[in-house]
Amino acid sequence: MNYQIQSIGEYEEAYKFSIENPEAFWAEIAYNFKWEKKWDNVLDWNFKEPNIKWFEGGTLNITENCLDRHLEILGNKTALIWEPNNPDDEIRTFTYNQLHKEVCRFANVLKNNGAKKGDRICIYMPMVPELAIAVLACARIGAIHSVVFGGFSAQSISDRIQDAQCSMVITADGAFRGAKEIALKPIMDEALVNCPSVNKVIVLERTKAKINMLKGRDVWWQDELAKANSDCPAEIMDAEDMLFILYTSGSTGKPKGVVHTCGGYMVYVGYTFANVFQYQPNEIFFCTADIGWVTGHSYIIYGPLLNGATSLMFEGVPNFPDAGRLWDIVAKHQVNILYTAPTAIRSLMQSGLDFVKGKNLNSLTKLGSVGEPINEEAWHWYSENIGKNNCPIADTWWQTETGGILISPIAGVTPTKPSYAMLPLPGIQPILVNEKGDEILGNNVSGNLCIKFPWPGMLRTTYGDHERCRLNYFATYENLYFTGDGCLRDADGHYRITGRVDDVLNVSGHRIGTAEVENAIDKHPDVIETAVVGYPHDIKGQGIYAFVICQKFPDDEAKTRTEILEIVTKEIGAFAKPDKIQFVNGLPKTRSGKIMRRILRKIAEGELENLGDITTLLDPGVVEDIKGGRL
Ligand code: WT7
Repeated sequence: MNYQIQSIGEYEEAYKFSIENPEAFWAEIAYNFKWEKKWDNVLDWNFKEPNIKWFEGGTLNITENCLDRHLEILGNKTALIWEPNNPDDEIRTFTYNQLHKEVCRFANVLKNNGAKKGDRICIYMPMVPELAIAVLACARIGAIHSVVFGGFSAQSISDRIQDAQCSMVITADGAFRGAKEIALKPIMDEALVNCPSVNKVIVLERTKAKINMLKGRDVWWQDELAKANSDCPAEIMDAEDMLFILYTSGSTGKPKGVVHTCGGYMVYVGYTFANVFQYQPNEIFFCTADIGWVTGHSYIIYGPLLNGATSLMFEGVPNFPDAGRLWDIVAKHQVNILYTAPTAIRSLMQSGLDFVKGKNLNSLTKLGSVGEPINEEAWHWYSENIGKNNCPIADTWWQTETGGILISPIAGVTPTKPSYAMLPLPGIQPILVNEKGDEILGNNVSGNLCIKFPWPGMLRTTYGDHERCRLNYFATYENLYFTGDGCLRDADGHYRITGRVDDVLNVSGHRIGTAEVENAIDKHPDVIETAVVGYPHDIKGQGIYAFVICQKFPDDEAKTRTEILEIVTKEIGAFAKPDKIQFVNGLPKTRSGKIMRRILRKIAEGELENLGDITTLLDPGVVEDIKGGRL
């Protein structure tokens, strides 16, 4: 069996084999990696507890697989290309030899500052090469990284650090994002006021902003580097040792620390990167995500490096200095594979074709989409204007919890269809279920998307609270992993993800729990109760609509709105700010006090005629009232 599938026949064969004999299938894939010691047992699992163990008894270090094992042949190949925020600044590149050296050196910095295997380290950094180096250095010494996206507020960072009891933080003075300069260290300082577990903060100089360094706690990256050598043997890890924690939103107010482990995650992201994008030697792969999200973990750092690929990392944003930036980067670096998000495509599409004209995009061979459903219009625009009708689009469906891509075309090998994620990758067994959890068989059907068999990249637990993991993902339907997504399977058996069926929003590809936003808004002293729902938004995919009850209807609505937005920015981050805030006198509730979100969603969407049965409401009158005040 080939590691890289090359034809539809091979896909069908691999898929069949992976279902009939999953352990033999994954063992074959896993042989393509470097293990210190091979596993005793490929898989042990039940979805009841859940208990999922892949490659037990095996030992490895993922950085040896990302770096060391390539050095002999690919040592002088470019591993990482960094494109700065400002296009006039110097790019930076790292060969595999250089990246290996930098990672080992920084791994020694971590050790010199007291970090050891099993410690949790929070990383809060801009999109600079040092972020990738920090991540890999943690993995090198067996410390568990918890990257927090640079857009999160002090409160959010503090919650995450406390939950994981991190002992160390790696951050920078600030970040450049488009025309903005963002302070990071001051936000971190504020977060750390409530984080006694942190005893060391390593600070990278990026913006040269004036910041405070706390004596005894804070040290400069560059100073520490000067004291460290670049010889750092990799810590040997058990396959099921934790590799990282990544916090993500769910239907409760508190984000969960999704846990991924060393062996299974490595095998899964390595395999899916090679296959979905059909990576060819010497191709340049550009994923526009931020490393603060799982896409960046899996397909900027680990997936590409595991395959000896060249990964391009971009510090800035797609519309700076103008809406042609991504196309300029493609032309400048001769990018072959571009992996981006529907929200970026829609926003660049709106800026018009002038920004695409004259840009040489001939190097592109394959395109990818990730993070949210891609609408047909954006799919066609991407295919025609960027791919010049010559590049297959892999619409990749997956989640923080899945570690890597589960349902997606294999670029150029399996078929595509606009707005469809198409077929499961080998090893993935999706099923659709109805509300009761009965499997919906046949085609031309829709239901809730579940996965009925484990795959190596899946989450193992939620940090510090295994019961929460069980309740969230494995308790809704017996013996199934529940994704939270709705899905349809067309007449040909192709899958189309239709969006979340729980209280999770997807705003510009950022995952936000409605309860998180509600909790934040409720902190405003005048606010009594809030209900937040999503509504279709032309660019962001979903917008956030908040219905808010105040003690007394605000005299100055604009002022209260501004205050609420400030609170959301402070509690979560600016990306979670509601697009619309409507002050209401009451919310549609059932007699038992449950908010009927279905009705609010319909109103937010503008579907005022078709609200369904409202006679069971405690006070049906509030509905007219809310409709009247709709924004
Ligand atoms: C949710 C997961 C996948 C990494 C980035 C987001 C939605 C993701 C697609 C897609 C339709 C998609 C789902 C999923 N989603 N990719 N190709 N088509 N929906 O990871 O933050 O964990 O969000 O994003 O609703 O459940 P995440």
